[in-house]
Amino acid sequence: MTAEIWTLGGGKGGTGKTFITSSLGVNLAKSGRKVILIDADLGGANLHSFVRLKKPKHSLTDFFENRLPLEKIIEDTQIPGLKLVTGDIHSINPQNIKYAQKLRFFRHIRELDADYIIVDLGGGSNLNTLDTFLLADKLVVVILPEITSIENLYQFLKKVLFRKINRILRKHRMKDSVLEAWRKGDTRGIHSIGEMIRFLKGLSFETSLIIDEELAGFKVSIILNQVRDREHIEMGFSVRSVIMKYFGISAMYAGYIGHNDLFWRFINQIQPLSQSAVSLSNNREISALARNLEEDKQITLTEIYHA
Ligand SMILES: Nc1ncnc2c1ncn2[C@@H]1O[C@H](COP(=O)(O)OP(=O)(O)OP(=O)(O)O)[C@@H](O)[C@H]1O
Ligand SMILES: [Mg+2]
Repeated sequence: MTAEIWTLGGGKGGTGKTFITSSLGVNLAKSGRKVILIDADLGGANLHSFVRLKKPKHSLTDFFENRLPLEKIIEDTQIPGLKLVTGDIHSINPQNIKYAQKLRFFRHIRELDADYIIVDLGGGSNLNTLDTFLLADKLVVVILPEITSIENLYQFLKKVLFRKINRILRKHRMKDSVLEAWRKGDTRGIHSIGEMIRFLKGLSFETSLIIDEELAGFKVSIILNQVRDREHIEMGFSVRSVIMKYFGISAMYAGYIGHNDLFWRFINQIQPLSQSAVSLSNNREISALARNLEEDKQITLTEIYHA
């Protein structure tokens, strides 16, 4: 059985991607799953400190520079079932990781002995981040209940979809003909990704079929972090609707996490990891989120009003 890969991204920095990656990892491992966390935050790797691995022996650099196979750079954590690949890859220029290398990386991680592989992305939306995000099985975005964070998410998704469509056109060797049609066609009224997709699908029956087929099952899962009240929680439903309407893709509201002192204590290493691990595995929000992501479910309004 191959492992399922989840990536956590979302554009803006500091929304809680690393915290959620680590706490989901701890929660899932405590529930008996085999989990490998991968720090793909090029230039800002800090996942190892969240899982208290003070001095990681190897990093992703060793894989990308062909020094070690992936299996050799996976390290155990103090939590049984939870492993980590550190992302300290400052010794090479992250922008230089070629698409073929990323494909090789994903081919390898899929074959690791794990139920879930959770990839923590950095903030921002450079091509490496977009490609890594797109290569996963489950695309997860982490946002805060703030306008700037939500706007950042829309910008991020716009770039993700552009990249996705670009890859579809290249894969099917349609890029040149589509560009030509784009130049010749009346594209003045096209203001959103949804409209662009409609334009492409209108080019020919074949293009329409290919795009439909490639985008079928394309979905993002939304996590709202650091919510403080019910109004914040409800923002997840609106974000989901906007994504579906304007981007024409499927979206799930996988769950929310409160701004909580328990999490702050975990992040700031106030308690031993074993103690935090018990709290994280018993925490209702983290557990609900982990189950929803595992089972491809989302939260409902009824659940919130009965919480
Ligand atoms: N639910 C929460 N409750 C309390 N504090 C939180 C919570 N989530 C995140 N934080 C705080 O937000 C900070 C940023 O979180 P984190 O490092 O996980 O963000 P990030 O998205 O990985 O950032 P970057 O994009 O820089 O990698 C943490 O140091 C912590 O102080
Ligand atoms: Mg981070």
